[in-house]
Amino acid sequence: LETETDSIVQQFEYSDNDVNKAVKEFLRQADEGLEKDGTSLSQIPTYVTAVPNGTEKGLYMAVDLGGTNFRVCSIQLLGDGTFSHTYNKVAVPKNLMVAKKAEDLFAFLAQEIKKFLEEHHSEDFEHHIRRRMTVSSPDGFRDEHIFRMGFTFSFPVKQVGINKGTLIRWTKGFDIPDAIDKDVCALLQAEIDKLHLPIKVAALVNDTVGTLMARSYAAPGKNGSVLGAIFGTGTNGAYVEKLSKLKKPLAGDYDQSTGEMVINTEWGSFDNQLNVLPTTKWDASLEKDSLNPGFQMYEKRVSGMFLGEILRLVVVELLNNPEVSFFKDENSSSNDRGSVTIISRDSGLFKQWGLDTAIMSTAELDQDPELTGLRQALENNLHVYAPAYEDALAFKKVAHAIGRRAARLSAVAIGAIVLQTGKLNDKDVTEEDPIDIGVDGSLVEHYPGFRPMIYEALRAIDGIGEEGAKRIRIGLTQDGSGVGAALIALVAAGMEKNAN
Ligand code: BG6
Ligand code: GLC
Repeated sequence: LETETDSIVQQFEYSDNDVNKAVKEFLRQADEGLEKDGTSLSQIPTYVTAVPNGTEKGLYMAVDLGGTNFRVCSIQLLGDGTFSHTYNKVAVPKNLMVAKKAEDLFAFLAQEIKKFLEEHHSEDFEHHIRRRMTVSSPDGFRDEHIFRMGFTFSFPVKQVGINKGTLIRWTKGFDIPDAIDKDVCALLQAEIDKLHLPIKVAALVNDTVGTLMARSYAAPGKNGSVLGAIFGTGTNGAYVEKLSKLKKPLAGDYDQSTGEMVINTEWGSFDNQLNVLPTTKWDASLEKDSLNPGFQMYEKRVSGMFLGEILRLVVVELLNNPEVSFFKDENSSSNDRGSVTIISRDSGLFKQWGLDTAIMSTAELDQDPELTGLRQALENNLHVYAPAYEDALAFKKVAHAIGRRAARLSAVAIGAIVLQTGKLNDKDVTEEDPIDIGVDGSLVEHYPGFRPMIYEALRAIDGIGEEGAKRIRIGLTQDGSGVGAALIALVAAGMEKNAN
């Protein structure tokens, strides 16, 4: 088992040399995406041309679809870099993630928004209903829209304006073909209107853009935040780019005065063509059975939705290997060490996506010489009863190798974007006033040592090195995208006023 484990671990190694090769390719694909449509790194213009500075104020609503939970929140921006917010979160039912009609999913979202308003804003709601009966609604901005809402929709969208954008493709286990090429803001607004809710969908936001906005609002630092990134169910990043580098034509109007625009890279699809990404046989097997073969190739090696599945495929291979003694199941009874490990047939190990990535964090965290915590988790979560220490150790080593490769791959995208901005050449960027990056998502939040492993790889990147890495600050921006969406709804409100 030990020899076999070592050989598996070795296949997940991702050297400094590999990191550097991938950074170069990332920069090449990033430039290509700025020049034309239809490339693997989409580099989607967001029409957001400025990041906040913390002084913004007001009450806004935000909804957030695309992470572990659907969230509805109201946010009071207090204008001093702080905010208060109230939120509900609910898992999206699995059948709606693959519904026949887009309407089924969006009707569910509208119902959740209604529940939230009744629960937390019933007074405003009552007031609105009374008003609606007395105020007529001219076209365009409607008086009854007492809440402006930012819609965080964390999927690739071709954005054509601040609250308009068509879905390019689903990712992360969603698959409703009916919604492709439709304007997701219009889909949501239609369901909101059916319920007569006092809400205008004022801004469409990717979670990475929201994270960048929220980070800039709360912790901008002297040099501002340059990148918002998610390492959660999926992975992606949005950064501030110079308009002069954005060569492809833009569809909508935008404020050109800052000379910059936030770009949603959709880096989950970096290197779909597999020029540089590492591919083990388990990556290939995951790919073959995925909902979107050929897409999100980087994401499938990096983010939380997929790491557990890669680990599961390795574990299943070990289980089926007659040469090694590992977690033998109830039919094969005793292993050669004389102990009996029973695996229930309903264990998640035997189902696609059945191994929740969270157990990788438990494995990483467990420093106990007997691996008590991990062995308990194997029993509780995967129904592997009485796992032997050696088996748990093998599981831990493989999990670590997969997690470490993910962190080093994450450094590729972060490092490349830092180089792309050219900010490390700026004399004002020092250890005290570093380049700021906001990150969010269950993986970077809960996987022990994820950020230190990213830093280790960043230090190995040509053009960053030990010295450069010290001038990069990666900070957690929890629940950032709700606040970020509210901030963009605020910007949108300003644009409406200017237009009137
Ligand atoms: C949340 C953000 O904190 O993190 C979401 O509010 C984002 O917008 C999510 O999608 C990503 O993390 P996860 O782990 O839920 O996919
Ligand atoms: C997927 C989505 C992307 C999102 C990311 C993180 O990669 O395509 O839009 O930002 O997941 O949630």
